[in-house]
Amino acid sequence: MAMSLHRLFSYVLGALVVSAAAHASAPSATSTAATSTLTGIAATAPTVGPSHQVGRLPALGWNSWNGHACNINETIFLDAANQFIFLGLADAGYEYINIDDCWQSETRDASTGRIVPEPSKFPSGINGIADQVHALGLKLGIYSDAGAKTCDGFPASLGNETLDAETFIEWGVDYLKYDNCNIPSNWTDAATPPDDDWYNSNSAIRYRQMTAALNQTGKPIHFSLCIWGTANVWEWGARVGHSWRMTNDISASWSSISSILAANAQHLDSVDFFSHNDMDMMEIGNGDLTLQEQRTHFAAWAFMKSPILLGTDLNNLNSTQLDIIKNAELLAFHQDPIVGTPATPFNATASAPSTSPPEFYAGRSSKGMHVFIINTNTTATKTFDFANVPGLGFGRFRVQDMWTGKDLGTFANEFSITVDTHDTAALLIHRA
Ligand SMILES: *[C@@H]1O[C@H](CO)[C@@H](O)[C@H](O)[C@H]1NC(C)=O
Ligand SMILES: *[C@@H]1O[C@H](CO)[C@@H](O)[C@H](O)[C@H]1NC(C)=O
Ligand SMILES: *[C@@H]1O[C@H](CO)[C@@H](O)[C@H](O)[C@H]1NC(C)=O
Ligand SMILES: *[C@@H]1O[C@H](CO)[C@@H](O)[C@H](O)[C@H]1NC(C)=O
Ligand SMILES: *[C@@H]1O[C@H](CO)[C@@H](O)[C@H](O)[C@H]1NC(C)=O
Ligand SMILES: *[C@@H]1O[C@H](CO)[C@@H](O)[C@H](O)[C@H]1NC(C)=O
Ligand SMILES: *[C@@H]1O[C@H](CO)[C@@H](O)[C@H](O)[C@H]1NC(C)=O
Repeated sequence: MAMSLHRLFSYVLGALVVSAAAHASAPSATSTAATSTLTGIAATAPTVGPSHQVGRLPALGWNSWNGHACNINETIFLDAANQFIFLGLADAGYEYINIDDCWQSETRDASTGRIVPEPSKFPSGINGIADQVHALGLKLGIYSDAGAKTCDGFPASLGNETLDAETFIEWGVDYLKYDNCNIPSNWTDAATPPDDDWYNSNSAIRYRQMTAALNQTGKPIHFSLCIWGTANVWEWGARVGHSWRMTNDISASWSSISSILAANAQHLDSVDFFSHNDMDMMEIGNGDLTLQEQRTHFAAWAFMKSPILLGTDLNNLNSTQLDIIKNAELLAFHQDPIVGTPATPFNATASAPSTSPPEFYAGRSSKGMHVFIINTNTTATKTFDFANVPGLGFGRFRVQDMWTGKDLGTFANEFSITVDTHDTAALLIHRA
């Protein structure tokens, strides 16, 4: 899809901030004890956290950006909502219908100062769409930006957090995606944040101001920090929102998916209830990803417990793709009510080569232990020792394929499976 100049420029800014973060000294623990030494805006920034009435589990839904970019109007959101019901996605757990950038008029309302939905695209207003989405038992998300303009140049919320939070809540919005474009120069980050704590960086404070404004509305709302992995967000994201983007925008290519996997695999200890690394919206149905790559995209987003926001025109998905995104076992792992942690990398055998991203992951769910194997290269047999899976030990184990539900048999010591190029094996393991 075409990238606007605004967006491209913001990417460059984002990359600069990332490299500044990489050169900073090791961050201290996120304790508030040091706040007494803070000066300037960090000393007065709000510290209230996100609502814990929502956002315990990673979000499941749909967003307009990957499939439609700026070419949106209310029809596509109502169509996606109806497809959630018709295709059984709502029954599978998908609930959010999220509006991305370009819903706004060019200017705020001259008398109220409010952001205005562009009437030619949204004749019913955002409240009108919210009513229809809610009537289907679903939830509505909206988009703004912690800068002077959104990525595509529309009015944004920096400095107007209170008014915009009130407006979104009054419209009935349930979810806010908050982007990171067009940051005024006095809001950029120093190489080292105050007290060496990135929670006190200017970036974090831009987001903390919106957290406080949302809190003051008195209504719980899911708050998604679209901060592109800058300012070490995984260290403080859960104190400010429910999920946070870990990288720049995804594209519908294996190289993009595999680089997001490699980046996110390093920060899986930040993931638990109310605390989700966001690997970006789904590209299933877009571009020329192979079927195996689409399976890996879904499985890895599920076992790393990223939000899963479908990003394509749902009318165009075929039955194989629908089966992937409705896979009950992977969705159960993703939405587990008892275990909040994701699967994490382990060393499969004493001699397993190391790859980027890692190929072998293990994690517990309320059903048992799971192993996921991503083939980052060409078709091959992949082997792991049961004793290397943290928490399994030695013995005989029964292995079930989560994609098909099929029992693969009982095995001692080790397990081998052929995995296609860029495909992912998903296994449930019980002691035999
Ligand atoms: C606002 O913050 C207070 C203090 O943490 C909390 O008790 C309250 O539930 C929050 N309200 C919302 C709507 O998030
Ligand atoms: C939205 O765009 C589609 C496709 O261009 C069009 O068919 C539909 O009527 C439009 N809806 C509104 C509300 O403008
Ligand atoms: C905040 O609102 C004021 C008054 O409507 C407006 O002048 C300003 O541009 C707004 N800021 C942003 C970032 O949209
Ligand atoms: C940047 O300038 C604006 C307008 O003067 C001010 O409100 C804001 O606090 C400043 N930001 C920082 C981080 O000092
Ligand atoms: C669906 O599309 C994928 C490619 O994205 C293809 O591999 C698969 O065979 C298709 N399934 C059906 C039922 O056409
Ligand atoms: C895997 O083994 C390497 C050394 O061979 C070690 O550095 C690494 O920490 C191990 N990884 C895990 C997840 O245990
Ligand atoms: C991918 O597999 C090929 C063929 O087995 C092998 O030659 C190559 O070294 C592998 N690449 C990596 C990065 O492991």
